[in-house]
Amino acid sequence: MGWRSQRVGSITASATVSMTDRVKQLRAEGRNIIGLATGTPDFDTPAHIKEAGKAAIDVDLAYITYTHSAGLPELREAVVAKLARENDVRASVEEVLVTIGVKQGLFTAAQACFDPGDEVLIPTPTWVTYEACFRLAGAVPVFVACRPEDGFRADPERLAAAITPRTRAIMLNSPGNPAGGVIPADSLAAIARLAERHDLLVFSDEIYEHMVYDGHRHVSIASLPGMFERTLTFNGLSKTYAMTGWRVGYVAGPRTILRDMQKIHTHSVTCAAAFAQKAAAVALDGPQDTLREYIRVLGERRRQLLDGLNGIPGVRCAPPDGGIFCFPDVTALGPDDRAISAAFLEQALVSSLPGSAFGPGGEGHLRINFARRDPADIDEAIDRLRRASERL
Ligand SMILES: Cc1ncc(COP(=O)(O)O)c(C=O)c1O
Repeated sequence: MGWRSQRVGSITASATVSMTDRVKQLRAEGRNIIGLATGTPDFDTPAHIKEAGKAAIDVDLAYITYTHSAGLPELREAVVAKLARENDVRASVEEVLVTIGVKQGLFTAAQACFDPGDEVLIPTPTWVTYEACFRLAGAVPVFVACRPEDGFRADPERLAAAITPRTRAIMLNSPGNPAGGVIPADSLAAIARLAERHDLLVFSDEIYEHMVYDGHRHVSIASLPGMFERTLTFNGLSKTYAMTGWRVGYVAGPRTILRDMQKIHTHSVTCAAAFAQKAAAVALDGPQDTLREYIRVLGERRRQLLDGLNGIPGVRCAPPDGGIFCFPDVTALGPDDRAISAAFLEQALVSSLPGSAFGPGGEGHLRINFARRDPADIDEAIDRLRRASERL
């Protein structure tokens, strides 16, 4: 077959999506699956945000036609205000670009920033999409394994050891997917010094910024002195406001890079859906009480899943600092996390993802989502996993 590019041959389909397909198939066969594999919060978008989206469609042509390729002005202004208020990041409107979720932001940034052969450091275990975005841009992902005893948080010394003359950027994701690590402020400062010393760009995916527990605190690396100029901060509405299907995200960073990304927008996506952008502006500018309640509930579900998993013989789970996943060590149940995840799906009807799907260091773990509305789902999942683990 002569129609397949080498670039697409260099990536594999997302493990999450493959699992979702298998779950759909089992559900179609009438099996009652508890789906804890994906990164989708099982929560509803707050009512006032939904209303804003619906109203926007009826109110004005501006919300059902193309927006500016950098995004709706009121959303960019809302992002500027949010970054100042919550992240201590001072950006102007020209330093904000609206994207179709963090995913499309990352994809476009990789196209704008990298040439073939450029190396990007990725602490692992890591969300699978970074590798694919960088490879599709011709860049070379360089995995830097983090240690379970460090809570899988990115370690500046390990990053420093992986730098070569071809290194162009460091990928950060804090709180992290899959292991939930929140990079402490002193490590972030050390990573910032590294970036300055070696003239590196930092990609910082902060989509789980509000989901922090046990006193952990999220810090935006772009707020550190001199870092805004060399950082692209990626964020979005998907997790914070339970808006995964609305597909709105944003990037803040140096205007020269954003201008290049915008140029790519004009030829690729044009813009995110106009009415979804309007709803996103209302989400960021509006009351945050539903968000506070949502984070409180997530904290309870995290504790419930954590305690439940640690009560299963052969499963050990360290408390995640942040995010929406537990990442238990299941090596005592068997040598192959993929086989364990598959057995849990087929026998317990609980979907999870094998840790080895997330790169070096993830082996022997499972990623399990605790962002469920109903606590009974988690009790039931734990019950089923306990029974299935006894049969492994
Ligand atoms: C770390 C991380 N970044 C980004 C995303 C996707 O974000 P969006 O829906 O804004 O594309 C996910 C979704 O699972 C994620 O886990």
